[in-house]
Amino acid sequence: MKFSLIACAVLASSVLAAPAVSPPKPGQAIPAVTLPIQKHAVEGSKIDRARNNAKAQISKWGARTHPSLVGGNAPLTNDANELYWAPVKVGSQSFTVDLDTGSSDFWLRGADCTSNDGSCGNGQRGVDVSEFSDTGLTYDDGYGSGSASGEIYQGTYTLAGLTAKNAYFGVSTSETGFTDPADGLFGLGFAALSNIGSSTNGKAPIDELKVTSFGFYLSNAADGDNGEVTFQGSDSRKYTGSFSYLPLNARTYWQFSLSGASISVGGRNIRFSVANGIADTGTTLIIVGDSEASAIYKAIGADSQGNINCNVARTGPNVTFNLGGKSFVIPPSVYVFNDGQGSCISGIMGGAGQAGVVIFGDVFTRQYYTLFDVTNRRVGFALARHP
Ligand SMILES: *[C@@H]1O[C@H](CO)[C@@H](O)[C@H](O)[C@H]1NC(C)=O
Repeated sequence: MKFSLIACAVLASSVLAAPAVSPPKPGQAIPAVTLPIQKHAVEGSKIDRARNNAKAQISKWGARTHPSLVGGNAPLTNDANELYWAPVKVGSQSFTVDLDTGSSDFWLRGADCTSNDGSCGNGQRGVDVSEFSDTGLTYDDGYGSGSASGEIYQGTYTLAGLTAKNAYFGVSTSETGFTDPADGLFGLGFAALSNIGSSTNGKAPIDELKVTSFGFYLSNAADGDNGEVTFQGSDSRKYTGSFSYLPLNARTYWQFSLSGASISVGGRNIRFSVANGIADTGTTLIIVGDSEASAIYKAIGADSQGNINCNVARTGPNVTFNLGGKSFVIPPSVYVFNDGQGSCISGIMGGAGQAGVVIFGDVFTRQYYTLFDVTNRRVGFALARHP
């Protein structure tokens, strides 16, 4: 059980909207709203969690890319739920939801939810559905590390100051693998991945809320500041320079082509063995192909499991991702993933072959503020500005 009172207390004090964001573009009616975000407090070794998260995400994306794997997924690892939460209001009720760029349904835990692993028992309470209309339709969502199914309701919900009226959302009656403290999941992917949308009006939550873009800033644990997510714009205090954009080559998740892309490290230039990449804030590490990972391990001095001397954080070479003609430098202080107890692993690991995509997770996002641009169907990266 990972129910965290601390997380709830932090939430209560952090719902206040924050300050300056970049000005809305012409025709953009809704001003940008910035919310502090934080990872769920979870127990256990940071390195074990990072490895478990990587496994869960590889399995999640593998299930997407190879649909036959759905249902045959890896064991459920609670610690793998390295997700960021935000407050959401549904009707008159307030909840917290995990933000997930890799799925496209919004659901909350129902009051009569049942699970065989404690998944239903960790949120504050279930939704009181009496103020919503029951569509009589059901949904069934599979994730890399769990599942949720239940009934589809219609009502009004608000996230980050954006409101959707008569919108559809799920109320789960059955869950596995969601034993974190959030009350549900908010998918920020496109409609093609939305089960609830496919049963109703064809819309994903980002369509219902008319989201034009959203930007993620992830803090360094050592800095003690919160990460934040900004909707309908980006927070220019949190990055320097301008965005470099990669066009999406699918309107499913946040996927772009790696054709022509490469990784430079220690004087070597390594081609990607996997065709596409995704930006995913729910993945702790950067997941590349196994052959790229071996070459990187050799160049940075990691062993075949990715274990590395913590001193490399000060002495190691940069690892540079060449994407869309631009160079994105991940310095050793960022890619050496330190558990704070003297153990370190490479924050860039293999597994993209099984996932079907290279995953640009938090090790990348921490260095490069990531803008998910719905309107222009692209992702933008700009150097994050840490305190
Ligand atoms: C690593 O990249 C940074 C930023 O581009 C640069 O200032 C630094 O000199 C590079 N370090 C090495 C060892 O190349």
